[in-house]
Amino acid sequence: MSLTVAIDGPAAAGKGTIARAVAEHFGFAHLDTGLLYRAVGARTLEGLPAREAAETLDPADLTRDDLRTPDVAQAASKVAVIPEVRAALLDFQRAFARRAGGAVLDGRDIGTVICPDAEVKLFVTASAEVRADRRFLELTEKGMKVARQEVLADVVARDQRDMERADAPLKPADDAVVLDTTSLSINAAVEAAIARVDTALRA
Ligand code: DC
Repeated sequence: MSLTVAIDGPAAAGKGTIARAVAEHFGFAHLDTGLLYRAVGARTLEGLPAREAAETLDPADLTRDDLRTPDVAQAASKVAVIPEVRAALLDFQRAFARRAGGAVLDGRDIGTVICPDAEVKLFVTASAEVRADRRFLELTEKGMKVARQEVLADVVARDQRDMERADAPLKPADDAVVLDTTSLSINAAVEAAIARVDTALRA
């Protein structure tokens, strides 16, 4: 059995939490594709050209402990604009999506470009303010010193860059189910996501 669940959406909408919960519930493998771009971005901050950083990405790069910082998030969004960077990361993501036993991938272009044939496509979104509040909490809980306004500005800048790029822009696939978590709790969103996958498994 190979079933692919594609979860896309803007920064801090809750897609990672939903993806992890769905993967755990069904025993599927999970790939946070943002980590690939973050790892490439982190390497460019060390001076490596973006294309080279993507083409020579090593599994060890994905376990660096600086990948969740705001600087790396912005660098990730910048390298994600470059078609050669996206191309270098494509095969790995597609192979992961079709692995036996089921897979959940979360990102920006999973339902549109990486897995247009995914059996389940979700687009998880929320207002920029709510997303910035969630990201602010997450960062401060980790002990990072950030200002809420700065987090909001970062989220808005990243959304804009991710939506306006020419190659694989952030947008819902035509056949995606939209989950707006502005007022929907993450638990309710997880339940809705699990229900969609159950339906696909029965089909
Ligand atoms: O999901 P995230 O916040 O970790 O993603 C970081 C950046 O990586 C995001 O701003 C844009 C880019 N990205 C992308 O272009 N395509 C994906 N499938 C995942 C992330």
